[in-house]
Amino acid sequence: MELNIAVLPGDGIGVEVVAAAMRVLDAVAHKAGHKINAVYGDIGWAAIDKHGDALPAATRDICNRSQAILFGAVGLPDRDKTLPQAKRPERVALLELRKGLFANLRHVVLPAGLANRCPLKNELIARGIDIMIIRELTGGLYYGQPQGVTGAAPHRSAVDTLAYSEHEIRRILRVGFETARKRRKRLLSVDKANILATSQLWREIATDMAKENPDIRLEHMYVDNASMQLLRRPSEFDVIVTENTFGDILSDEASMLAGSIGRVPSACLGEPDAKGHTAVPFYEPIHGSAPDIAGQNKANPVGTILTLAMMLTYTFNLTHEAKAIEQATFEVLNAGQVVTGDLGGSATCSQMADAIIAALKHVK
Ligand SMILES: NC(=O)c1ccc[n+]([C@@H]2O[C@H](COP(=O)([O-])OP(=O)(O)OC[C@H]3O[C@@H](n4cnc5c(N)ncnc54)[C@H](O)[C@@H]3O)[C@@H](O)[C@H]2O)c1
Repeated sequence: MELNIAVLPGDGIGVEVVAAAMRVLDAVAHKAGHKINAVYGDIGWAAIDKHGDALPAATRDICNRSQAILFGAVGLPDRDKTLPQAKRPERVALLELRKGLFANLRHVVLPAGLANRCPLKNELIARGIDIMIIRELTGGLYYGQPQGVTGAAPHRSAVDTLAYSEHEIRRILRVGFETARKRRKRLLSVDKANILATSQLWREIATDMAKENPDIRLEHMYVDNASMQLLRRPSEFDVIVTENTFGDILSDEASMLAGSIGRVPSACLGEPDAKGHTAVPFYEPIHGSAPDIAGQNKANPVGTILTLAMMLTYTFNLTHEAKAIEQATFEVLNAGQVVTGDLGGSATCSQMADAIIAALKHVK
């Protein structure tokens, strides 16, 4: 099989983690007989320096001709400050490439053997953690109108609007049911239906859709309770589906359970619009460009390596190859011989990739 991938390393450690992850992908593809057609594009400050634009036309073109995008990170705080908010690379490049991709999946995994890497007490995570969080990404509070500040001090007022259409709710819940079907057939819908009208509609639709998905056990939880239970009994969570703002906060909270921001992968997925066009799926580790460690070969590449496993699963349906990457990665993490700085060790980014490639050789 041929895999056409746009590769956008971007700024800071994006360059290092993407290089390490692509070596792992090449190793998996070589073993399974797949051909990787990786086309590299400039993005972020790396693109501004070369082309005067954080998302040059050539990079858009590469993305449009690809089946999936692998993204490192963009943004450098010292240089970001020199631009107005709306022109900063994170705004220009990220929001543009993610347009139309309404489902953000973050996979938080902590194998039982890595309990000491998690900030929670061992007894709370003895059974390990494996949570897939599905966050609605294009609606809700961040995009609803009206939005803004009006009036003059000291009598100003501000408004944000939380709005969802039935169509938006149904399509993200559908991703939730489908994802649950591929895992433990349990779906937790998180809302605030005791207060918010959007949540009441959300819950009604979820309950209705559960009738069409009798093989999935649907449960509901209020978001305040969910944020508490994530810390109290994280092993019991499986697939969580929720709206934009709740998902933003809960997924950051859950990411910490994996022990390091450098370990968590993510995917942004869409579906065909009215004209039958689907935005190119976008895959990235959840961390930023980490300028404090950039260029030193110190970054943990695991988040990016597991991001490629998500790409193999969701875009290419190569679940066997994806599982091989996950198995090799967790084997290395469990063995505890190769540990990067963020988890208390001294292994380099490239040594971590080497260890995972070596482990892949004996993964079936
Ligand atoms: N998707 C993106 O491109 C994205 C996301 C977040 C932040 N940013 C940008 O990145 C820049 C830095 O942001 P920040 O410092 O708030 O967040 P960050 O994620 O870059 O770094 C936060 C901390 O985590 C550490 N860290 C992050 N990833 C790591 C990894 N893989 N291995 C080891 N340690 C790791 C860093 O060293 C730092 O101490 C900013 O310009 C910000 O706008 C970009």
